[in-house]
Amino acid sequence: MKPIRLSVNVDHIATLREARKEKFPDPLVAAILAEQAGASGITCHIRLDRRHIKEEDVKKLKKHITGELNLEMCTEFVDFACKVKPDWVTLVPEREGEVTTEGGLDLVKTKEDAEKAIKKLKKKGIKVSIFIEPDNEMIKIAKQIGADAVELNTNSYVISKGKKREKEIKRLKSAAKFASSLGLKVRAGHGLTRQNIIPLLEIEEIEEVSIGFAIIADSVLAGIQNIVKEYVEILMKRAYQK
Ligand code: PXP
Repeated sequence: MKPIRLSVNVDHIATLREARKEKFPDPLVAAILAEQAGASGITCHIRLDRRHIKEEDVKKLKKHITGELNLEMCTEFVDFACKVKPDWVTLVPEREGEVTTEGGLDLVKTKEDAEKAIKKLKKKGIKVSIFIEPDNEMIKIAKQIGADAVELNTNSYVISKGKKREKEIKRLKSAAKFASSLGLKVRAGHGLTRQNIIPLLEIEEIEEVSIGFAIIADSVLAGIQNIVKEYVEILMKRAYQK
């Protein structure tokens, strides 16, 4: 089996920056470091309230990263995406006030809107993935309206335990198989961590995962000791002054 590609979502580097309305940390720097460490691509999510990633970040990422850029967005950003031309757009739903994406796109309700968006994006050479629940009905519609890939929402799996978790893994497995049999590329994401990704390695059809929150959270904790040592060394300098 081929390894699963990792697209690193750098949104929460921008969340930190926006907490202080500063110029740093820069999601582009995190993206370059992630690529140097082996990430296959970079994901960012532009939201209606621009609470982390902004238009300028997407443009900079497009210009400077070497791997694939995947822009997550609702259909309101189609014209913007057509100008910036990321390699991929992942269509996601957005509810005003949500903390994070709450579920996959309901293609029964939004089929026409999504189809229109896909047509526009594909005219510009942008590949399109749709974030959906692991549900055959959604997968069929995604195929019908011209998507290149589906990203299966892993959230129900992530929050489940015991028997329910086994059921969720089966659901993801069967959806991945069905999507792949229709010729769609299969991706997965939302809430994934170093621990809960392990059972998903068995699902052969998953080509790529997108992981953000856990990678950024783990990186902060993994880096804090080295950085504190540097600060302590700087402060120690006074002890050597006359
Ligand atoms: N996939 C989609 C469609 C998302 O909206 C998000 C969150 O922005 C992710 C994946 C990544 O989720 P997490 O940050 O929990 O890894």
